[in-house]
Amino acid sequence: MKKIPFIALLSVLFLILSACTLGVNEENSITLFTQRHYDTDQALYDIFYEQTGIRVNVVSAGADELMNRLETEGEDTVADVLLMADVGRLHMAQERGLLQAVQSEALEAHIPANFRQPDGYWFGLTLRARILVYHPERVSEAELSTYQALTEPQWQGRVVTRTSTNLYSQSFTASMIAVYGEAQTRTFVQGLVANLAHAPRGNDRDQAKQVMNGEADVAIMNTYYMGRMLNSADPFERDVAQTLRLFFPNQETTGTHVNLSAAGVTRHARNVEGAVKFLEFLSDTQAQGLFASANFEYPVHPDVELDPLVASWGTFRPQDINLALLGVHARHAVIIMDEEGWE
Ligand SMILES: [Fe+2]
Repeated sequence: MKKIPFIALLSVLFLILSACTLGVNEENSITLFTQRHYDTDQALYDIFYEQTGIRVNVVSAGADELMNRLETEGEDTVADVLLMADVGRLHMAQERGLLQAVQSEALEAHIPANFRQPDGYWFGLTLRARILVYHPERVSEAELSTYQALTEPQWQGRVVTRTSTNLYSQSFTASMIAVYGEAQTRTFVQGLVANLAHAPRGNDRDQAKQVMNGEADVAIMNTYYMGRMLNSADPFERDVAQTLRLFFPNQETTGTHVNLSAAGVTRHARNVEGAVKFLEFLSDTQAQGLFASANFEYPVHPDVELDPLVASWGTFRPQDINLALLGVHARHAVIIMDEEGWE
């Protein structure tokens, strides 16, 4: 009878020890605030845990929600890494003081210099191009050349793209400023607005659907939506992706506009070392292929093979600028778009 309390005592001791062990494990974890929500990402986080013993706690939400939460939580935040799908947003997070600069030889080796913030505030992980998508029965490939050519008279009423409030549109226009300067960008925006089929509405997929429906002949949109629609549960989206064609503009001139999914270490990260290791892992050859193909994007690591569907779209030359400039010029881009009537 006397042994029972002793066993009970042992159980209590065991529970206390377990709690201590759990405590140690908790320290060896990072929390990721991310816009992404793909099953393949979780598989990568599991591999990272197996390799490093660092567990990844994932919080998925919209970009603005994540940034607001980081700002409100301040020093008390649980977030170590912030991952978002537009350079403009990362720049915003940096300006709001939500990120910290980190240095890592591995990150510098994995990621070309133009795809990361020069001081180490954020690092590009996957790349997407903003391309022309056209209906082959109404447009021949030979008629297409540059974004600027879409401002010529023969394209009047035939072009669609997203609103100027959309960050993809803002980063696109910001890239024009970075490459051509404000005066030429203004002329371009004027000409584009004049040739739009109708006031911008809908998301990137909707731009393609408007071309499919005959409301327009060419859409400016991101590459990966063609991959996502091809794999969609919706038969109309599959039809759109099978019918329409992609074209990489400005190949003979200044290159196609690209944007990044990118991540930075948060200002008040508790596990900076773990956060940097996580970014190093995501940018290394093992993770890059899966991370990019989950959303039909391009890896930033130059040695990693493309997803077969992405590869089928052909190779292209991106604009040769540091993508941090998309954030730097975002404000002027919005002013120009507003003043020139891009709704
Ligand atoms: Fe998107």
